Amino acid sequence: MTSEAKRRTVLLTGAAGEIGHGLVHGLRTHDDIRIIATDLKEIPEGTRSLCDEVHVGDVCDEGLMQQLIAMHEVTDIYHLAALLSTRAEHVPEIAHEVNVGGTWNLLKLAAAHSASHGRSVRFVLPSTIAVYGMDGAEHKERAGAVSEDDCNLPTTMYGANKLYCEHLGRYYSNHYRRLADDRGAALIDFRSLRLPGVIAAETKPTGGTSDFVPEMIHAAASGHPGTCFVRSSARIPWMTMPECVDALLAIGRADRSKLSRSVYNVAAFSASAGEVAEVIRTHFPSSSVDYAIDENRQDIVDSWPADVDCSRAASDWGYRPRWSLEEAFEHYIVPSIQTHYAKA
Ligand SMILES: NC(=O)c1ccc[n+]([C@@H]2O[C@H](COP(=O)([O-])OP(=O)(O)OC[C@H]3O[C@@H](n4cnc5c(N)ncnc54)[C@H](O)[C@@H]3O)[C@@H](O)[C@H]2O)c1
Repeated sequence: MTSEAKRRTVLLTGAAGEIGHGLVHGLRTHDDIRIIATDLKEIPEGTRSLCDEVHVGDVCDEGLMQQLIAMHEVTDIYHLAALLSTRAEHVPEIAHEVNVGGTWNLLKLAAAHSASHGRSVRFVLPSTIAVYGMDGAEHKERAGAVSEDDCNLPTTMYGANKLYCEHLGRYYSNHYRRLADDRGAALIDFRSLRLPGVIAAETKPTGGTSDFVPEMIHAAASGHPGTCFVRSSARIPWMTMPECVDALLAIGRADRSKLSRSVYNVAAFSASAGEVAEVIRTHFPSSSVDYAIDENRQDIVDSWPADVDCSRAASDWGYRPRWSLEEAFEHYIVPSIQTHYAKA
């Protein structure tokens, strides 16, 4: 462990959420760092006990966020707090306030902190495949694995919010106050991953449009009939929670000089709902899935790519997917979810 790593203090927003839960465990396992965690909701005890401090509060509360960054001399921000795609479509204006307003709030504060301390605050933002907008099923099929700069025409408030936040992050990282004489000694160091659907064994998702796969898996493992709200042919890219946490930690640690861009695709495999349902059946033979299509959510999934091209993440900072669909079930999903429901 380097002395620099010893001194790092992470502010993690959205710590009560699914990825927050995984990331706090990942940060605590891998790094000797201080973790200051916040969320609008109470942070569950299992996560709370791994943090140095926890604060319940709104990421849009400038006073609170400024106090946390200044008081703890924050060096890294993992900004996870957001309203996800389905929830955001129900309350788009609130989604904009939280997803854009909250991110902008933290970017401004991180920029001021970097400038006054002469040291770049590292800012990691999980973005999403929702920033892509495919023009119907035929386009989705034809496009295959999309690259970062292609098809950036999101059709959801969530996707538009995240795409804009990626641009804001790149601006604050490279161009902030470019005409000012008193620009400050350092800009922020912004990095972002466009995450695919994330599958966790220990937590159940809410409010996302990729929830159909984790919902089917959790229903099967807990002995309940599953319902899938998209057609069996609906296909997007996926990764498991351990892979998601590893990728976020890896982009956070990557050598800045190796990064040719600020936003990268990551994913482990591409699979349709029906293909996942088949694998579920091999591991949980008595499980069943009923398809009750929600055409509006189906439309959103149809606008997302079937796969993403991760070659830039591979060449710049060594990203490698760990598991195929079948391996993910064998090595992570089945053993972890069985343990989870045995304890419940
Ligand atoms: N889970 C996925 O499949 C997935 C995929 C792509 C990107 N992401 C991104 O990863 C991040 C974390 O996602 P997740 O799956 O853990 O979501 P989640 O909904 O489980 O967690 C989000 C957390 O943000 C908190 N939050 C919401 N509004 C807030 C506010 N105003 N102030 C403070 N906290 C607030 C919520 O209370 C919640 O605990 C999000 O930014 C999301 O866009 C997730």
